[in-house]
Amino acid sequence: MILVTGGAGYIGGVVAERLIERGCEVCVYDNLSRGHRDAVPSKARFVEADLAERPRLKKLFQDHSIRAVMHFAALALVEESMRDAARYFHNNLASALVLIEEAQAAGVERFVFSSTAAVYGDSTPSPIPETAPENPISPYGESKLGVERALRWYHQVHGLSYYCLRYFNACGASEQRGERHDPETHLIPLVLEAAAGERGGVRVFGTDYPTPDGTCIRDYIHVEDLAEAHIAALEAPPERSGCYNVGTGRGHSVREVIDTVRRVSGRDVEVIPAERRPGDPPELVADVSKIRQQLGWRATRTLEDAVRSAWAFKTRPRCSQQ
Ligand code: UFG
Repeated sequence: MILVTGGAGYIGGVVAERLIERGCEVCVYDNLSRGHRDAVPSKARFVEADLAERPRLKKLFQDHSIRAVMHFAALALVEESMRDAARYFHNNLASALVLIEEAQAAGVERFVFSSTAAVYGDSTPSPIPETAPENPISPYGESKLGVERALRWYHQVHGLSYYCLRYFNACGASEQRGERHDPETHLIPLVLEAAAGERGGVRVFGTDYPTPDGTCIRDYIHVEDLAEAHIAALEAPPERSGCYNVGTGRGHSVREVIDTVRRVSGRDVEVIPAERRPGDPPELVADVSKIRQQLGWRATRTLEDAVRSAWAFKTRPRCSQQ
């Protein structure tokens, strides 16, 4: 069985769906604080609990033969972490340490962890290789880096295989599952809301960056590609343990994202120039050579594919998420 924490969330739900399609037995463990019960695939076993509930976790490991843990459950808003650092360290770091400890004690062989490009510092090269200095500028990034470091030592001391996947900007949808955050702060869903007439326009945070069109550049990775990277990590030889960037290796500006949404939706989107958002680096693009070479994975979908899938998910007739 594979334990998927946070499998009621956006990325965890898509990965759980793919694992089940491949014939894996999946247990989703989620406290539903940010996730949705209807995002859990119907064929998955579901445990509604918090990772801090150690007895629940211990019993789960005792009752089932769990060969791998895929750990998605976390809070993931940089701005929120700047207001409530304690919550991020408690929820993302302390809870993960309980999970790793119980997994290792139960003899789990492999741990796949949802990490982030936020573990890198501010003045990074572009594209960013995994060897760039780790120097997070938010409690969110620091909490994720703490988990990466613990995993590295569990690997060295106890032989646990680990794969930390440093996501760049996850986006898009599968046929059944898409992004449903509340509050929504991510660029693509906000632009789609504007295209759908659910908001007046989109604020563009900073139009005077040192980039070709003055707006920030990011590496947008389709959630289906991201899911395939997790499968590659699950199947990789144990000696390939380590940290991997997961992106496309291509950057797109905020204006390019807005233009793509206009093209895909056939609707106009009003641009509202706004102040720079604190903590936003001008450019974050992944160097993806390591994951290509070591795990044999590469992204195959474009920004336009991601926007098209997210627009289809948003505008489809509402029914069950199964
Ligand atoms: N942006 C706008 N207007 C908005 C929202 C976003 O202009 O209304 C811009 C941001 O300034 C940024 C880009 O769009 O330049 C993307 O912003 P997102 O909030 O969608 O994503 P981030 O790049 O800030 O964050 C993502 C993940 C984080 C992760 C980080 C890694 O969501 O979890 O990448 O650096 F930490």
